[in-house]
Amino acid sequence: MIILGIETSCDETAASVLKKNNNELKIISNVVASSLPLHAKTGGIIPEVASREQLKFIIPVIKEALSGVKINDIDAIAVTYGPGLMGSLLVGIETAKTLSYVWKKPIIPTNHLIGHIYANFIGNEKIKFPAIGLIVSGGHTDLILIKNHGDIKWLGGTRDDAAGEAFDKIGRLLGLSYPAGPAIENLAKNIDFDKYKFPSPMIDSKDFDFSFSGLKTAVTREIQNKQLNDGIISGISYSVQKAVVNVLINKTIEAANKYKVKSILLGGGVAANQKLRDELQTKTEELNIELFIPPKNLCTDNGAMIAAAAFFNDKAIAFEKISAKPQLYFD
Ligand code: KG4
Ligand code: ZN
Repeated sequence: MIILGIETSCDETAASVLKKNNNELKIISNVVASSLPLHAKTGGIIPEVASREQLKFIIPVIKEALSGVKINDIDAIAVTYGPGLMGSLLVGIETAKTLSYVWKKPIIPTNHLIGHIYANFIGNEKIKFPAIGLIVSGGHTDLILIKNHGDIKWLGGTRDDAAGEAFDKIGRLLGLSYPAGPAIENLAKNIDFDKYKFPSPMIDSKDFDFSFSGLKTAVTREIQNKQLNDGIISGISYSVQKAVVNVLINKTIEAANKYKVKSILLGGGVAANQKLRDELQTKTEELNIELFIPPKNLCTDNGAMIAAAAFFNDKAIAFEKISAKPQLYFD
C-alpha cells in the first residue's frame, strides 16, 4: 500500500510518499520546502506570507515527491486538515482534494499533532501500547495517553506559550534570529553551569499542564539595563534550556508512571533538541520504558508523518466533506 502525505499547516510545504510492505513503513520520498528565511526577516511567521509561499511551492514539491512513483500505484492521499493557519491548511487541502478528484483516489484527513507522534512509527511499526506522547513544537506542548491506534486521551498542555514559542520569544529578546530553538541549543553548549537558575514553571503542579510565558518574563527582568554579550547570551540560553527540558521530562515521566505505559513517543520541532533527547533517554532507561524519538528531520513538519498517521488511522472520506480546522485538537 502506498500513501501520498501532504502537510502545509504552518510555514512548511511538504509532501512524501510512504510505502507499507509486510507491515513495514518505508519512505520512498520526503520533500520539504520551507519559507523560513522569509520569516527570519520578520522575526516570526506572517500567515499571509506563509500561505502565498505555499501556493508557489505546493505543485513543485508534490511533483518532486512523486518522481519515480506511478500515480496508479498510489492507494490514498493523506492531508493535514488541522490544527494550523487557515490559509496554509487550505493550500494543502484544496490541492489534495483536486488530486483526489482527478486521480480518483480516497483522501484521508489527518490531525497534524497526531502526525508528529506517528513519525515514530516509521521503522518502528510495532510500538507497544499504552504509550505517553509528548508533542513539543512552536505551536503546541501537549501530553497525551495513547491506549491504541485511534484511542487517544489528552492529559494536559500549555496554558500559554508552547515550549518552542518560549525558545523563539526568548531568542528574540537575546537578539537571535527566528526560530531560536536550535541557536539556543548551540549557545548552551558553551556553558556548563546553571548561572541564572530560572524556575521550571509548574514543575510541582499536580497536573499535566505547562506554562512557559513566565520564563520569558524572568529573562526580560534578567537582561533589563544590561549590555548583552556572548557570555550572558550563552549563559541565559543554558539556563532557559535547562528550565524547559526539566519540566518537559518531569511531567512526561510522571504521566508514564501514573498510566504504567510501555512506551514514550516524542514529536514536534523541539524534540530535535539534543539535551531533551539525551536526558529523556537516560530517565527512561532507568525506568525500563521504551523511548521513541524521530530522526531530527522528521521532528519538524513533514509529509511522511502525515502519511504514517494515515496508515494506522485510515478514515478515508469523500473529498467534498473535508474542511480545514485551524483549531482542531484531539478528537
Ligand atoms: O514542529 P515544528 O517544526 O513546527 C510547528 O508545528 O510549530 O516546530 C518548530 C519549533 C520552533 O519553535 C523551533 O524553535 C523549535 O521547534 N526547535 C527547537 C529545536 N529545533 C527546532 N527547539 C529547541 N531545540 C532545537 N534543536
Ligand atoms: Zn508541527
